[in-house]
Amino acid sequence: MRRRPLGKTGLSVTELSLGTWGLSGDGYGPVVESEQDKVIDRARALGVNLFETADAYAGGAMERRLGERLKGIEDVRIVTKIGTDHEGAVPRKRFDAKYLEGAVDACRERLGRDVLDVVLLHNPSKVAIDGGEACDAMAKLTEGGKLRAWGVSAGSVEVARAAIEKGALVISLALNVFTAGDLAALSSDIDQKEVGLLAHSVLSYGLLCGHWSSDKVFADNDHRAERWTSDELRRRLRQLDALRPAVGGEVLSMRAAALRWVLHHRPVSSAVLGPRSCLQLDQLVREAGKGPPYLEDWALVALRNRLHEVGVDA
Ligand SMILES: NC(=O)c1ccc[n+]([C@@H]2O[C@H](COP(=O)([O-])OP(=O)(O)OC[C@H]3O[C@@H](n4cnc5c(N)ncnc54)[C@H](OP(=O)(O)O)[C@@H]3O)[C@@H](O)[C@H]2O)c1
Repeated sequence: MRRRPLGKTGLSVTELSLGTWGLSGDGYGPVVESEQDKVIDRARALGVNLFETADAYAGGAMERRLGERLKGIEDVRIVTKIGTDHEGAVPRKRFDAKYLEGAVDACRERLGRDVLDVVLLHNPSKVAIDGGEACDAMAKLTEGGKLRAWGVSAGSVEVARAAIEKGALVISLALNVFTAGDLAALSSDIDQKEVGLLAHSVLSYGLLCGHWSSDKVFADNDHRAERWTSDELRRRLRQLDALRPAVGGEVLSMRAAALRWVLHHRPVSSAVLGPRSCLQLDQLVREAGKGPPYLEDWALVALRNRLHEVGVDA
């Protein structure tokens, strides 16, 4: 599997990584434990060296599972995220220094690692970043040797930019053909500061696979039931017409086109995949292709024009 530098962290990561939110059962409904294990093992067998998780996924159980499954395997990197306090009756975001220090120690225990590779603040507000306490605490934990690098999982361009300004070495961002403008807005910040970029939600939660009908219904325990109104979903499904013609030749599916589009962006260190089965993982790895060009230049220009025509600023 091809590798890319994770910014200037000194870590070399595979351009495809395994994200574990969907696998944990939290986002899209349950996945049986045996399948969770199989997907993790399969990712290793395929050469994936980067695994992405959060202390919040399955209440910490996903960190523990990764720690056990990946124990003793050399050259495996784990990115985790902190910043959600589950101690009270209702989970709440917390980015004060004391909380973050305790959260890092809890991750070290669950992952079974004295030194964590990368820890990200999990969707902080811009106010939390601007305040400085959270970023200072993460820098201190890094200097103290508990982690190799820190960063921010950012819900907006503004948060990502503020985090880069405060010294974040890694940014995690939703990146897919529908959110292309965000990377365009950030690329000079990322370039200048040599920030590692983890791109997640590359399939726009499965939408970009192009398999859904306009009356698609999601189960109550699937976050997608709340994500789009039925009008918004229908609009997005119509916009998929812009992606459809990208399929052809070595680009075997819309899923492949969507993933290759993410991989062709030079600032991306790794595309964080969200398969919920070995079948899905195998499809994604096979269809990512054998390396640049992921999509031909003419195909990228044509795709950008078609996206513009359907109202997506790419
Ligand atoms: N704040 C953050 O840092 C953050 C935020 C979001 C996600 N992430 C990470 O990134 C990972 C992926 O992101 P995501 O879940 O938001 O979005 P995604 O990768 O765009 O979508 C995942 C969904 O796509 C579908 N899918 C996956 N592989 C497929 C395949 N081969 N064929 C057809 N459908 C396929 C599955 O849906 P079905 O269940 O319908 O099959 C799956 O649940 C997560 O697991 C998480 O670890 C991080």
